Amino acid sequence: MTKVSMTINGTSVSGDVEDQTLLVEFLREDLRMTGTHVGCDTSQCGACVVHVDGRPVKACTMFAAEAEGAEVSTIEGQANADGSLNVIQQAFQDHHGLQCGFCTPGMVMTTAALLKENPKPTVAEVRTYLEGNICRCTGYHNIVKAIMAASGQDVSTIAAE
Ligand code: FES
Ligand code: FES
Repeated sequence: MTKVSMTINGTSVSGDVEDQTLLVEFLREDLRMTGTHVGCDTSQCGACVVHVDGRPVKACTMFAAEAEGAEVSTIEGQANADGSLNVIQQAFQDHHGLQCGFCTPGMVMTTAALLKENPKPTVAEVRTYLEGNICRCTGYHNIVKAIMAASGQDVSTIAAE
């Protein structure tokens, strides 16, 4: 076992992990932070996206020990300080950017990274950025619409599908 320490959503945490313990396992199983989902075993679905030192990472592709000393952000830390939905979460709700919601934590975390890099993306840029996030329910259209709305852009010209 290796002792690992990191900051998650602003709180210092530590634990003992096996060398092969994945970051997503540490979050979900050791810390019981189950907002970060596991949707595949092939590193394809993006349901597990968190931020590590400000960069989006699929938490199933990283060992917990590799996050030693890192600043980690998860979906549990995304709401506003008063508990209300942040602008991205609210846009997903307003524009029906989810159905079952399984992919949504990863979608929200990926969107947060996108809008930090590119605050006013085009629809094409949104679709390209989401390539690593799979949704089996929505057909993506309303997710794209929600992200465009979250970026403060007019979505009235984005046709319904
Ligand atoms: Fe990490 Fe699917 S669970 S990409
Ligand atoms: Fe069901 Fe995306 S809303 S997988």
